[in-house]
Amino acid sequence: MRFKPLATLALVAASAAAAPPSFDTLIARMTVEEKVGQLSLFAPVSAGTVGNPATRQPSAAEQRDDLRAGRITGFFNGQGLAIKREAQRIAVNESRLGIPLLFAADVIHGFRTVFPVPLAEAASWDPALAERTARAAAVEATADGFRWTFAPMVDIARDARWGRSVEGSGEDVFLGRQFAAARVRGFQGTDLAHADTMLATAKHFAAYGAAEGGLDYNTVDLSERQLREVYLPPFQAALGAGGAAVMTSFNDIAGVPSNANPWLLDTVLRGEWGFDGVVVSDYTADEELIAHGVAADARDATRLSFLAGTDISMQSGLYRDHLPALVASGEVPMVRLDDAVRRVLRIKQRLGLFDAPMRGLDGADRTDWPEHRALAREAAQRSIVMLKNDGALLPLPKAGQRIALIGPFAGAGDLLGPWTLFPGARPPVTLEDGVRAALTDPSRLTVVRGSGIDTPLRGGLSAAVAAARAADVVLLAVGEGEAMSGEARSRTDISLPAAQQALAEAVAATGKPVVVLLRNGRALALKGAVRDAPALLVTWFLGSETGHAVADVLFGDTSPSGRLPVSFPREPGQVPYYYAHPPTGRPVPASQPDSFYKARYLDSPNEALYPFGHGLGYGDVHYGPPVLSHTRLPWNGTLRVTARVTNRGTRDTTEVVQLYVRDRVASVTRPVRELKGFRQVHLPPGASESVTFTLTRHDLGFVGRDGRPTVEPGDFDVWTAPSAGEGAPASFLLELSTQHHVGQR
Ligand code: NOJ
Repeated sequence: MRFKPLATLALVAASAAAAPPSFDTLIARMTVEEKVGQLSLFAPVSAGTVGNPATRQPSAAEQRDDLRAGRITGFFNGQGLAIKREAQRIAVNESRLGIPLLFAADVIHGFRTVFPVPLAEAASWDPALAERTARAAAVEATADGFRWTFAPMVDIARDARWGRSVEGSGEDVFLGRQFAAARVRGFQGTDLAHADTMLATAKHFAAYGAAEGGLDYNTVDLSERQLREVYLPPFQAALGAGGAAVMTSFNDIAGVPSNANPWLLDTVLRGEWGFDGVVVSDYTADEELIAHGVAADARDATRLSFLAGTDISMQSGLYRDHLPALVASGEVPMVRLDDAVRRVLRIKQRLGLFDAPMRGLDGADRTDWPEHRALAREAAQRSIVMLKNDGALLPLPKAGQRIALIGPFAGAGDLLGPWTLFPGARPPVTLEDGVRAALTDPSRLTVVRGSGIDTPLRGGLSAAVAAARAADVVLLAVGEGEAMSGEARSRTDISLPAAQQALAEAVAATGKPVVVLLRNGRALALKGAVRDAPALLVTWFLGSETGHAVADVLFGDTSPSGRLPVSFPREPGQVPYYYAHPPTGRPVPASQPDSFYKARYLDSPNEALYPFGHGLGYGDVHYGPPVLSHTRLPWNGTLRVTARVTNRGTRDTTEVVQLYVRDRVASVTRPVRELKGFRQVHLPPGASESVTFTLTRHDLGFVGRDGRPTVEPGDFDVWTAPSAGEGAPASFLLELSTQHHVGQR
């Protein structure tokens, strides 16, 4: 007899008011095989394992049998509604208990409409924008039957070699927390039961971005303080915003791979934080415990992964193959299995799948969403960071100049970024199309590729030089291809490929003014003619509306307002590089930058070429000194810090006022600066605005020597500044109160 979900749930709801349904009745009726099925997620064989390495695959007929037998909890990343419709029909109508499937996908930065890659969007310093694009992505993806996204990636990334930097929000904890929470709110909406909401997944738990050498999947070894202060807070923010799923990370931390880490998954996540959602393994990460060398075989890997707290196995099939025997032998207690199943069923129930399993599956595939184009353009505009604009070269006039657009990124391709598994009907707007559309006389634009992404083009340099000579200004579109960042795309050298550098040098040698348009998925180390060009825009991978958005900024329809979410080092050898580093015992004195026996490189200044938070607009913004409401912050009090910013320029601009603090003396070393707040202000020419931040002692805490959160009294520096590398601090004293735990010296 089939389970009658509606009636059962109604009974539970009536008796338990707000309490979540226990699913005891259903679980009691499930066989071990059916229970394990609820913990087993697969790619549909008919769609393949796109975006991931191939695995051993059943035949389509075998997978249908699995659906009938209740051996699958859901599919991920399958294309089109037909696959899902058919699978759901089988699960609901032909399986013994009729438990609906849940369809998941990597909806990372848009679905059919592609928004800027997450790192780019973080450059907007506008979490509300990320919330809106996540919402739009959820609307599109749910119309395609997906109710679970494997996003947001909330990994802090401080090593630009790591290809997955592109998927996160950069190097900073405070900024990362804001974007993590915003994206969860966007995907999940106000109520997961609504048809257009998706379960969000905070990933990858944990410290995936700390991979040694920036090498994807590599080992991680860091202190518990660093884990708790840097890598975990964005997860807490995502879960605090209601995020109900967490994905494990591939890496180990200090010898323990995440899938086998009960301290991480049970003690911290479920115990300390009270997380009651589901933990899904990353793709075959349970099986990879064997390669890590902590599991002897697949059975061992299953036991370790499940008992550590990983509820759902993705794609390996390990749980299905080995959990039943482990339960039979008593190595895995049935109660643990039931708990995991209950968590999965509750998620399906929260998503309304028991009530309406076919919801969203019976329409027609829709691949174009014109109503989201304006948002894609706005998000792209606001993700662009202007690093440099010497001599106010930008904005360019729309008429009167001959423009040469040169470089491998002038035309089609490499516009979208690494996670675009669901192509939309309309091709993305190229730079060429965008610039042409903006010009009064489109015939004034010449387009020359000049070079491949990493190989020279025959005759490319001479064509580029000729085009530059014949132009008044050059737009040089150089950087990284899509295939150079993303999963498994780490680089040892974050400079531009030599072929493109040669193109830049040849073009610069013409003496024509050059505007560099960087295409990139990570911080880059800029060299030579690229670094020295008078104008530099970071345009990342901006998605569907790339060309229009870049043209909007180039020609001044909008002032660039993005700020770097990652520092741009001077040299590749400086990575991992981040602004919020602890001081050393031998800092370099500002007055004697060349002094010896100091923590400095022989061949480069320590400072970033462009620090975290940097970015220019078309205004000319001046900062007054930070003004404090008091010089003492009482233990239970508040302190207001005010920055007065003035636009002395002649154009509208948007400024991102940033608040940083430094704890001068503490029981452990504290970062030389830490972001604690930011605010965007729109400043017309001549306008001034006072921006006030409020600090309490809670903003000044850290993880003490005893591993517990602590706040210590004492002196703090505070900056209100346009970046982590600018401004002069004021200071205040956090006053001691004996009633509170203040850590141990
Ligand atoms: C592996 C990636 O690490 C993860 O982020 C992604 O969600 C899964 N593959 C599924 O595609």
